[in-house]
Amino acid sequence: MGTTDNAMRYNKKSVTDVDVTGKKVLLRCDFNVPVDKVSGRITDEGRIVAALPTINYLLDHGAAVIACSHFGRPKGEFKPEFSLAHVAQCLSSHLGKPVQMANDVIGSDAMALAKHLQSGEIMLLENTRFHKEEEQNDPEFAKKLADMADIYVSDAFGSVHRAHASTEGVSHYLPAVSGFLLKKELDNIGGAISNPKRPLVAILGGAKVSDKLGIINNLLNIADTLIIGGGMAYTFFKAQGGQIGNSLCEDSEFENVKQMLQTAKDKGVKFLLPFDSLAGVSFSNDGDPLLVASDSIPDGMMALDIGPQAIKAFSDEIANAGTIVWNGPMGVFEFSQYAEGTRAVANAIADSGAISIIGGGDSAAAVRKFGLEDKITHISTGGGASLEFMEGKMLPGIACLLDA
Ligand code: 3PG
Repeated sequence: MGTTDNAMRYNKKSVTDVDVTGKKVLLRCDFNVPVDKVSGRITDEGRIVAALPTINYLLDHGAAVIACSHFGRPKGEFKPEFSLAHVAQCLSSHLGKPVQMANDVIGSDAMALAKHLQSGEIMLLENTRFHKEEEQNDPEFAKKLADMADIYVSDAFGSVHRAHASTEGVSHYLPAVSGFLLKKELDNIGGAISNPKRPLVAILGGAKVSDKLGIINNLLNIADTLIIGGGMAYTFFKAQGGQIGNSLCEDSEFENVKQMLQTAKDKGVKFLLPFDSLAGVSFSNDGDPLLVASDSIPDGMMALDIGPQAIKAFSDEIANAGTIVWNGPMGVFEFSQYAEGTRAVANAIADSGAISIIGGGDSAAAVRKFGLEDKITHISTGGGASLEFMEGKMLPGIACLLDA
């Protein structure tokens, strides 16, 4: 069945397979955390907390940890608003020990701190994307990063789909192994798609079908049921001749989505679209939502959430699932009037008793917003990375690690 080979092929050495005692370890994390635009305060520490087991292991085993990460997209320039200093503070309070913050990445400050760093101590380099060479995967830049350390540990699952200097380039100069978070992500997501308890129900939402073509096509080979919600559903309705008013639509994907429906039929995959929707007159929480059939949305209105019949149909499938993977909200859940579809799907998943895997990004935020994280088997720290992993793509930040 399906393109699951990559998940199996990722049998990589981990931090427990190498001797870290007395070594300097360059640890790539994904500290690209959401922050409040005005105050700069971290609004979700999930990625920092998820990195703690590897950091604690390294420190407890006598390594000196040189942590690094990107943050946002500063496009190769030193910009104070993209500094990782706030992450260092947060990390320090979780670890209960100081995190020495370098004020550059490969400059004299970072080099000096790294040189004098002792076993059991941790420092954090500035944002790797302050250098354009990071995203260019420049070998010289990668070598300078690598020169500070003896071993490279990657725990940045959220960034393994990027072939950048700190996620891939450094592996050409140092023995490279995975951290615990990376391994946990691979085991959970890989396990769900390569050896799922059946039926496997995949739920995909979000705005654009073009972002999800790869994952839908791969899941059509693997899943028993595919549920589509969110803005991308309306491209399916219009492609089949439905009226969708001003709802999101990608006309350029009509042939692709028709082919998906045909493939689902040919392979016997149950393919569920939202039968009904809640529509509004504008992309806002204003006005009263109108309940409509999803293929008959009046002119001047746009679908902003799935309706009650869709919720019932989706929840019934979810209740019978053995494994569930979910990526992308069912509606604009940030608006209170259009949050019910996403909330109901999140609740159904939490109550299902199935193995449940939530892709990062918006669906992970939704699960946290509704306070359901304790009832989910695995919430990925990767947005784009978890999507690409589920697409069956070979991810450069994993492929570069030493084979077990
Ligand atoms: C993410 O948040 O998905 C990762 O940190 C990758 O960020 P990027 O899309 O800016 O590469």
